[in-house]
Amino acid sequence: MKMETQNLQVVRLHENPHYLKACCELINDEWPRSETARMMSLQASCNHLPTSLILIDDMKRLLGHCKLTAIPSIPESCFIETVVISKSMRGKRLGSYLMRQVEEYCKNILKLKMLHLSTKGQENFYAKLGYENCAPVSIYGVRSFNSVPTISDKIPNQVPVINNIVEGAPPPPPPPMPKPETMVNNTLKSTKTFMFKYL
Ligand SMILES: CC(C)(COP(=O)(O)OP(=O)(O)OC[C@H]1O[C@@H](n2cnc3c(N)ncnc32)[C@H](O)[C@@H]1OP(=O)(O)O)[C@@H](O)C(=O)NCCC(=O)NCCS
Repeated sequence: MKMETQNLQVVRLHENPHYLKACCELINDEWPRSETARMMSLQASCNHLPTSLILIDDMKRLLGHCKLTAIPSIPESCFIETVVISKSMRGKRLGSYLMRQVEEYCKNILKLKMLHLSTKGQENFYAKLGYENCAPVSIYGVRSFNSVPTISDKIPNQVPVINNIVEGAPPPPPPPMPKPETMVNNTLKSTKTFMFKYL
C-alpha cells in the first residue's frame, strides 16, 4: 500500500533535535551500535555536510532517516548513507519518497550535480530509483587510484624533517581508511556495490 505523500515531510534533523533519540533508536534497530557513537554521528548534522534528513508523517512520527556526507575528491557529489525506513513501515514506497526528496534537496539546496552511495543487498531498490553501478569512491579524502602522482609521492627520504613535517611539502596524508574499504595497489577495494546518479 502506498502512503499519501502530502502527509509526509522530509526535514533536517538538527532543526528538529527532539527527534534525535528516536532517530538513534530507528537506526540502531537496523545497525546496532553504541548509543553514544550513534548520537555523536547524528549530532554532527548541520546545514553544510554532514546532514541527517528525517522523514516524518502528519502525526509527527519518525518514519525514516538518511545521512548525506561530503566526498572530498568529488565536491559536486555527496555520499548517501544510513538510509532506513522503520521496520513496520517498509514496502509502502516511503523509502522511494525519502530518496526522491533527498535528491531534490541535494540538487536545489546543496547545488550538487550527482549522488553516490554504497550498498550490500539493496541494489535493486536503488536501481529502480535510477542509480547505476560505478567504481568505488572514498569519503575519507583518499585520492582515486588513477589520479596523477602528486609532489608528496616524490619526497626523498633525505629531505629535512622538522617536527615530522617536511618543510614546504603538502600536509601529511589522511589516516588509513577503515574496512571494508581498503587500498590495494592504490585501488579502492570494497565488498559493497557502489552506485551513482546524475541529478
Ligand atoms: C531499503 C529501504 C530503505 C527501502 O524502503 P521501502 O520503503 O521499504 O522501499 P519502497 O517501498 O519505496 O520500495 C521501492 C521499490 O524497491 C523495491 N525494494 C525495496 N527494498 C528492496 C530490496 N531490499 N530488494 C529489492 N527490491 C527492493 C520495492 O519492492 C519497490 O519496488 P516496486 O516499485 O517495483 O514495487 C528499507 O527496506 C529499509 O529501511 N531497509 C533496511 C535498511 C537498509 O538496508 N537500508 C539501505 C542501506 S544501503
